[in-house]
Amino acid sequence: MEAKEGLRTVVGLMSGTSMDGIDAALLRTDGRDRVEALDFLTIPYGDGFRTRLRGCLGKSGASGGPVAEVERDLTDAHADAVRCLLDKAGVAAAAVELIGFHGHTIHHDPGRRLTCQIGDGARLAAATGIAVVNDLRSADVAAGGQGAPLVPLFHRALAHGLPRPLAVLNIGGVANVSWIGPDPQEGEAEVVACDTGPGNALIDDWVLRHGLGRFDAGGALAAAGQVDDSALAALMGHPYFGCPAPKSLDRDAFDPAPVAALSPQDGAATLTAFTAASVASVVPHLPAPPVRWLVCGGGRHNATLMAMLAGRLGVPVEPADTVGWDGDALEAQAFGYLAVRSRLGLPLSLPATTGVPVPMPGGVFHPVG
Ligand SMILES: Nc1ncnc2c1ncn2[C@@H]1O[C@H](COP(=O)(O)OP(=O)(O)O)[C@@H](O)[C@H]1O
Ligand SMILES: [Mg+2]
Repeated sequence: MEAKEGLRTVVGLMSGTSMDGIDAALLRTDGRDRVEALDFLTIPYGDGFRTRLRGCLGKSGASGGPVAEVERDLTDAHADAVRCLLDKAGVAAAAVELIGFHGHTIHHDPGRRLTCQIGDGARLAAATGIAVVNDLRSADVAAGGQGAPLVPLFHRALAHGLPRPLAVLNIGGVANVSWIGPDPQEGEAEVVACDTGPGNALIDDWVLRHGLGRFDAGGALAAAGQVDDSALAALMGHPYFGCPAPKSLDRDAFDPAPVAALSPQDGAATLTAFTAASVASVVPHLPAPPVRWLVCGGGRHNATLMAMLAGRLGVPVEPADTVGWDGDALEAQAFGYLAVRSRLGLPLSLPATTGVPVPMPGGVFHPVG
């Protein structure tokens, strides 16, 4: 398709740390400050595949054996997600210029300059007939950055016209914040970002372990419990919370041992308070307190968590949908946007978003055939 005014039609694909499924977004963007959301869907993973994927976590690569098999199946599931998305939107594959393919993080250890997202870009390009950009985190990590979060530049692109400083909080398995400063006379607004701490992952694991489902729907279990202050204090004792931004986390960075003896309700309440408290603990590390928090990702559906956040942050905390964004689609959209930036040679990350020494381009391009 002709790239009118620099806008390209792209697909962004995300398989988040929650392992709930594949998010696929269709959008048009110039990779700079223009974004038009077109369509979105999530294809949930079956329990069998989720178990196989979980079995890959912590492995360092896909160079053979079971991880390679999971990578192949993961890639094929992403190709199916692209087909379903384009069918739903009534858009032909030939009209799509590029796919931004995050893949699934099985290992993230930026301190050792290691990060690994499985997902075979060449295979996805062949299966869909659309060129692919993948491996979006490696260049940042190789240069000494945290490799995460990568969504802040996309959040900045969306934030025009909203009051500043603005915080965009993404609550997936891990939670991350983008702080967006006032628009300057010239150039682009300052953006500072980091992973804040746990998002939903500890809560999900807790609910699963007690045979109460895959997540705490609406936050009902947590709402029925009491926060255990000493367990919360033990959890908040983790050295991560004293570190300045930028900083990032692996899914399993936190040990939930302090809640192990609590009832299902009290454990859920305490882990939910842990996510909220860890978000609030980042405020002193930001250049100035945000005047508003917009929340995206699955965690915004947890009413108990949203109420705890509002209580601790003391300014409006609202779902990102309030300003017309699709809070479920944002991360997948971001990887479509970043794929365009990759092709344009623009940075995907900045010193203030990942700690990388200089603004850093990245991504690996896989043409069709
Ligand atoms: N209705 C709901 N109530 C509470 N939590 C929810 C709800 N829907 C989704 N979630 C949470 O959101 C998570 C998925 O969020 P998502 O943004 O997809 O994370 P990730 O990017 O890590 O995949 C689920 O694991 C669950 O914890
Ligand atoms: Mg998800």
